[in-house]
Amino acid sequence: MADKNESFETKDFGWLVAMSLLFLALVAVCFWLEFRTEWGPYQRQFPQLLGHYGKGQEARDFQPGIQQIWIPKIGVTDRCITCHLGYEWSSVLPATIAEPLTPHPTNDWMTKHEFAKFGCTPCHGGDGAATTVAGAHQGGRGWEDPMLSNALAQQNGLAMNGMIEMRCNFCHRHDAATPGMDEINLAKVLFKKKKCLLCHVVEGRGGATGPELTYEGDRNPELLNFAHVTGDHTMFNWNVQHLTKASAVSPKTAMPDFNFKPEESRALTLLLMSWRRLTYPPEYIPDPEVAAAAMQPSPTSTVTPTPSATPVAH
Ligand code: HEC
Ligand code: HEC
Ligand code: HEC
Ligand code: HEC
Repeated sequence: MADKNESFETKDFGWLVAMSLLFLALVAVCFWLEFRTEWGPYQRQFPQLLGHYGKGQEARDFQPGIQQIWIPKIGVTDRCITCHLGYEWSSVLPATIAEPLTPHPTNDWMTKHEFAKFGCTPCHGGDGAATTVAGAHQGGRGWEDPMLSNALAQQNGLAMNGMIEMRCNFCHRHDAATPGMDEINLAKVLFKKKKCLLCHVVEGRGGATGPELTYEGDRNPELLNFAHVTGDHTMFNWNVQHLTKASAVSPKTAMPDFNFKPEESRALTLLLMSWRRLTYPPEYIPDPEVAAAAMQPSPTSTVTPTPSATPVAH
């Protein structure tokens, strides 16, 4: 009996030591993982910056760790701010600070989209949950909604803010024109002027010679025919070339060759790609009349839109 107990004790003691060592090892690994994260260095730098620009108290209050903007009703879990720590500090930090600590650019319309209500990915794309640069910016393999970076925009002959307008128009689709959206505004003018609705249905209106375009942005690029498309096999390229010269991309098509200028084809492509099935709740869809009023040159007209400014575009 006693022998048995003794042997149990020795056994337990052995286990206890083993478990303690394992636990210590796990703690060490956790510390190491935390320390070698990509965001670790930015989070050590950020409070120093705040302190340097006179925000000593805020610097002391800074809590390191993964930070996120969580907005369940629009499916946003954006950890971008784990690295982009200066985003809300434009009144304190100069814009010359290197990324990712640079404060977010501000202007009249940025202030209409509070970060706490919009997060980052609705405008930028990318994988909000990721905490590495590669994961967040490019997304993992097969990620369909890449961040609209400078590099990606350049590949498509655009500036980054021009490319982002595609995402602005997810929500601003029904504005006739919107401040800050030059590419999309141009595209909306062209779409009307060239009478695309003669052959295409958009939101229940238009002719049926060509396919419906209401949710053109949801089209699966893998189903496109790239046999006559030069360059990268992207939906963007397919559309630009098809809009410029439909007969080259879809031989025997009934769609005219519009011979748009490159910047016009690119703008129209952004517009077409912005037409997606949306899951945003109604409070995320802006009132087109407010945008119409904001587009009026006279400062008084921001209050009362004229009837002629009532939008009919898509
Ligand atoms: C692990 C840190 C980290 C995370 C997480 C992160 N970023 Fe960045 N970001 C950086 C760094 C570093 C740069 C500057 C160098 C570069 O462009 O890679 C940058 C640059 C950018 C730029 C400028 C892009 C360009 O093409 O010049 C944008 C826009 C941006 N980030 C948006 C985002 C968004 C949106 C998210 C979340 C989906 C995000 N970032 C998540 C570290 C991060
Ligand atoms: C309402 C849309 C919108 C939201 C929301 C938004 N951004 Fe931006 N962001 C933009 C636009 C547009 C630009 C380009 C501005 C320009 O070029 O003047 C930009 C620029 C940037 C840049 C690069 C600045 C540069 O020119 O190199 C970074 C980094 C960035 N945003 C990160 C973020 C992060 C992080 C969040 C979330 C906290 C966020 N943004 C939320 C629209 C948005
Ligand atoms: C997720 C939806 C969403 C996205 C994406 C979005 N907006 Fe908005 N935007 C709104 C809402 C909602 C309002 C109205 C906000 C308010 O009045 O409080 C608004 C307001 C505005 C206004 C003021 C005039 C008006 O129509 O109310 C402008 C200008 C504007 N946005 C431009 C942009 C630009 C430029 C982008 C892209 C960089 C963008 N928006 C991206 C939803 C969005
Ligand atoms: C005279 C009729 C006609 C007009 C006008 C016309 N299209 Fe088309 N369009 C077609 C036909 C037919 C197709 C299908 C064959 C093809 O891919 O070209 C098509 C295909 C398309 C597609 C590919 C759609 C898909 O899902 O396969 C897009 C995008 C498109 N048109 C955009 C436009 C735009 C933008 C305009 C105005 C600038 C326009 N079309 C004007 C007849 C027309």
